[in-house]
Amino acid sequence: MREEFLDPGVNGEVEETDEIGLRPRRLGDFVGQRELKEHLTIVLEAALQRHQPIDHLLLAGPPGLGKTTLAGIVAAEMGVHMHITSGPTLERAGDLAAILTKLGEGDVLFIDEIHRLSRAVEEILYPAMEDFQLDIVVGKGPAASSIRLPLPPFTLVGATTRTGMITGPLRDRFGLVARLDFYHDDELEAIVRRAAGILDVSIDSQGAWEIAKRSRGTPRIANRLLRRVRDYAQVRGDGTINQDTARTGLAVFGVDERGLDKVDRAILTAICQQFRGGPVGLSTVAISVGEQTETVEDVYEPFLIQQGLLARTPRGRVAMPSAWEHLGLEMPTITGDKPRSLFG
Ligand SMILES: Nc1ncnc2c1ncn2[C@@H]1O[C@H](COP(=O)(O)OP(=O)(O)OP(=O)(O)O)[C@@H](O)[C@H]1O
Ligand SMILES: [Mg+2]
Repeated sequence: MREEFLDPGVNGEVEETDEIGLRPRRLGDFVGQRELKEHLTIVLEAALQRHQPIDHLLLAGPPGLGKTTLAGIVAAEMGVHMHITSGPTLERAGDLAAILTKLGEGDVLFIDEIHRLSRAVEEILYPAMEDFQLDIVVGKGPAASSIRLPLPPFTLVGATTRTGMITGPLRDRFGLVARLDFYHDDELEAIVRRAAGILDVSIDSQGAWEIAKRSRGTPRIANRLLRRVRDYAQVRGDGTINQDTARTGLAVFGVDERGLDKVDRAILTAICQQFRGGPVGLSTVAISVGEQTETVEDVYEPFLIQQGLLARTPRGRVAMPSAWEHLGLEMPTITGDKPRSLFG
């Protein structure tokens, strides 16, 4: 598999070089997401038998759960090239046309952040996905005409952190829509052990478990915490990771027992202390913690909601009782009607 149009900082995050080696290359190395893996196994095998590319695949879910990884796996399992691009980089219809005409038979075209495609680009994509045709308009005004170019059959793999923002017509053109869920702790433990093996760090099972438990259900975070604990163990210990080095190392880097980091805690603290637990609007929360609203919504909130620490309500964000408890704060006692927050 060859990666063209490699665009690493798509989500504003430059992957550490180590991370590239940690990415599973084959479906067999991909831990967790059992149901999705089962579906993919069947679809891939059937396509290989028929010598056809697999149906277009849409992968949705919070950052760091393995969408880009899975796109690479699909290409590797099919034995084809993967071409990588992303919604925001495809500004004009011509940008996409240029990529489409370079596709080889059966190749995988990976479009990250596909919910951020412009209308004009999306319209080029429809006939390309459906009929493997590229419609190009030549000339301007009354003299303009359109030419149809055939494209080789290919597989589009789209990734999004926001399924809600994908237009109906685009979503309907995917043969498979898969949602990635947060990983269980035992799956994350397996991911930590696998990564430790690749990075050549010695780690015992309690050490791996400790890191897994604090990884917010996210493989990327598991790998990142492993690297931080490895640094800590190397400088302050004998280089091996056990429960003790994992605990103290993670505490040094501001990760608490539930895996919440400084920003997670700042979000909850702001809602509890400044807004009496909410409801408070998303943009107000974002301003009080100095983050972009999109980052708060896509990166931080999904895990806080999944953990039952935060709720999204029509009137705004609300801190749940377990958030107060986790922060060691006392919930204000409510007498009569709860006063409406100014921003709620
Ligand atoms: N199932 C898995 N098993 C092992 N490692 C995994 C798995 N899923 C992800 N990873 C690791 O986590 C890292 C992040 O995954 P990936 O880049 O695929 O996430 P993503 O969903 O594309 O995130 P984003 O939305 O930010 O682009 C990968 O480099 C890989 O090492
Ligand atoms: Mg990605």
